[in-house]
Amino acid sequence: LKEIPIFQSLSDEHLTLISKGFKIYRVKKGEIIFYQSDESTDLYIILDGAVKACLLDSDGKELILNIFKKGDFFGELSLLDGRPRSATIIAIEDSVVGVLKREHFLKLLKNNPMIVISLLSALVERIRMTDEMLGAMAFLDVSRRIIKFLMNVAEKEGEKTRDGLIRIKKITHRELASCTGASREAITKALKVLKFKGILKEEEGFFLISPHIEPCSFYEEK
Ligand code: CMP
Repeated sequence: LKEIPIFQSLSDEHLTLISKGFKIYRVKKGEIIFYQSDESTDLYIILDGAVKACLLDSDGKELILNIFKKGDFFGELSLLDGRPRSATIIAIEDSVVGVLKREHFLKLLKNNPMIVISLLSALVERIRMTDEMLGAMAFLDVSRRIIKFLMNVAEKEGEKTRDGLIRIKKITHRELASCTGASREAITKALKVLKFKGILKEEEGFFLISPHIEPCSFYEEK
């Protein structure tokens, strides 16, 4: 538990207390941990693997709000306000999650100002990312949204090629649609334009992008 960022400030005594109220579950890739509107209020911590928080519409279209990985927590919104879940959580890898009951975690918050600060910092970061996504959806066309998204991925897991491009693992049209709030058809069209303009290249299983492209500067608006 000491390796989990939100618990790092806790004393051994408190960590022991948490471990007593902590239930551990394994979930398979693709499994739904809970649905938007469910009435649960537990806090989840990812001990291994990764999950996505997403909104689903009745046609099965999906908007990914965030991806959480080892050490991250989710479920804090219902935990804090007691209202139904704001999003659906789906495992994107085989994962192990720890679950803490609401009363247990609220008690911890009351006794540990450092956890409150960690929780608030994580919430602030999530609001900033949501603002960024909202801004992109309101102000950028689909091509720019794709580039902005790929640049973010490149920052985290891109590799430089010999000719100075950045290589990232290819992402399917469906996933790009879920991450940028565009339709799959719009993604296919925009990718064609990006490739035609030489802004994006594809190589077996990878996208190649130039590190110098700013999402707002490469595309002349008509
Ligand atoms: P909760 O509403 O309890 O259940 C769904 C969870 O998804 C939510 O808590 C957060 O942990 C997470 N979540 C919902 N909206 C966002 C968002 N905009 N950014 C990051 N995480 C979110």
